[in-house]
Amino acid sequence: MVEAGAGVEAWFDTHGLAVERARVHGVPAAHALDAAHPVLGRRLRVSLPEGLAAGDEVEVGIDYSTTAASTALQWLAPAQTADGHHPFLFSQCQAIHARSMVPVQDAPGVKFTYDARVTLPAGLTPLMSAIMEDGSGVDAGGDTATATTTSTFTFRQPVPLSPYLLALAAGRLEKADISPRIAIWAEPPVLARAAATFGEAEEFLAAVEAVTGATYRWGRADALVLPPSFPYGGMENPCMTFLTPTLLGPLTAPVDTGPASVVAHELAHSVFGNDITCATWADFWLNEGWCVWCERKVLARVRGPEAAALSALAGSKALADAVRRFGDGHDYTRLVTPLPPGADPDDAFSRIPYEKGCAFVCALEAAAGEAAFGDWVRGVWVPARRGGVASAATLQADYAAAFPAASSTIDWDTWLHAPGLPPGFGAGAPGEPAAGDPAAARARAAEAAAAAWAAAAAKGGPAPSEPADADVAAWPAEVAAHFLDALADGVARAGAPLPRALASALGDRGGLASATAPEVRAAFLCLAAPSGEPRAVAGAAAMATEQGRMKYSRPLFRALAAADKEHAVRVFEGVKERLHPICTKMVAGDLGVE
Ligand code: BES
Ligand code: ZN
Repeated sequence: MVEAGAGVEAWFDTHGLAVERARVHGVPAAHALDAAHPVLGRRLRVSLPEGLAAGDEVEVGIDYSTTAASTALQWLAPAQTADGHHPFLFSQCQAIHARSMVPVQDAPGVKFTYDARVTLPAGLTPLMSAIMEDGSGVDAGGDTATATTTSTFTFRQPVPLSPYLLALAAGRLEKADISPRIAIWAEPPVLARAAATFGEAEEFLAAVEAVTGATYRWGRADALVLPPSFPYGGMENPCMTFLTPTLLGPLTAPVDTGPASVVAHELAHSVFGNDITCATWADFWLNEGWCVWCERKVLARVRGPEAAALSALAGSKALADAVRRFGDGHDYTRLVTPLPPGADPDDAFSRIPYEKGCAFVCALEAAAGEAAFGDWVRGVWVPARRGGVASAATLQADYAAAFPAASSTIDWDTWLHAPGLPPGFGAGAPGEPAAGDPAAARARAAEAAAAAWAAAAAKGGPAPSEPADADVAAWPAEVAAHFLDALADGVARAGAPLPRALASALGDRGGLASATAPEVRAAFLCLAAPSGEPRAVAGAAAMATEQGRMKYSRPLFRALAAADKEHAVRVFEGVKERLHPICTKMVAGDLGVE
């Protein structure tokens, strides 16, 4: 509620919404929309009655519809789904797209409960970041194809959440229960694979409860596998995690930790992020850094220490890569990242808040001692901050109160505010696997082989004999990805793409060119395509068009552009109508075709 020239007003964020009417306590009220900002959208001002006092409750109703400019929403035609016969809709609100779905004060520090009623053609099922009410959606029967019959579902979210956690999906959906509080939802053709891939979710959630000392309080912890254009690996929507289908393995149990770590990560957000929320996006690292710390504790408990170590190794590679990409003095390499007015949080997104944030939590843990830190997290920090918001300042004050001596050894200012890699970055830092660790030993061997390839690339020499075909074929996906990332690092430092002959030889080594694990497939294609090697270019174009997860699609389009900018733009123009609007925006920016 704001005192404005014309009287008292209620302000809401909107973006791409068509607002028709506003009411206050059921009575029509004047409203106005400010000029549109390309990132922030339009402020909606609703006039409130005279004579209100601070603390008075006001009920504002707004009639509006979303439009084609609603950046949160992707409407899919039946041909874009696994089912092939029914349309699909899904939202992605983080960071500031909730305002394109509903008029809202779209900041993470504003929390609210919600109730929703969703009416849609019979035969389709809606899911939300909320609990579906019993008896909801009794199918009205009739003809689905002509949509003459509808059904209505109701939802309740009694726990206050931030706007970025609003979520809605609808399609031909079915579920498989994997525990009393977890079901995996997916389109029927992928449900069996989805339930097999994410079958460990209950063990992960129990481990999150053990690590945080906090009983899960959102009721259900279901997960929904979305169509391939879902732009992220996962999104921690309360009660209903959203997941990319690129994680789906064969019907046998998955062997790599890719799918496992995403589910562990999203469930860790049920405390770090959803319960203890960053007060503003400047402290996004508080959500993600703590969550990655928790994810690795959970992986160590459920999958064993090597899984956590492999995840940490991949994380430090990703951190170094992101810092190099931005430049080590760039503001977006700072842990606390104040966004300039009007800046787009999607542009600031990278692995830095995740990995520099996790490294910082690990440094705090190492200074306090692991056992004492764990007791403090479970006994003090989580209980005190649950249900509210936190900032770097809150954390510093709470930590210093508990561990005054340890706190004085931490260089808070450098960690929180200096750009570039974190203090002491590299092997041996807190959170990094120790030298004798089996994962570290395998990683070092993969790095040595990568260095030989990078040297061959620089000298124009022949393909090195290491790694042998049989070794590559036996590598878990994480080690193969680590080898390729290390080689990509060497090649990026040299500043020229991997030569075509080496790209081709690399593809033949142990079947790398036909790898199916998406981390390995994307890493190989991004390394090999810039040379213009035809098989890699065709593979990169195929992967960039058959899915829309930004973690893969953005580097794939950049690799295609490095080989042939016009070809990359043509591939993008051909697929952009099928990508989520956030992915379309980011790839267009990367290719310079906005
Ligand atoms: N909350 C994020 C996704 C996100 C961040 C969406 C910022 C929009 C803006 C989610 O929890 C996440 O981090 N997903 C990762 C997976 C994870 C294992 C690192 C992803 O999508 O890759
Ligand atoms: Zn996350």
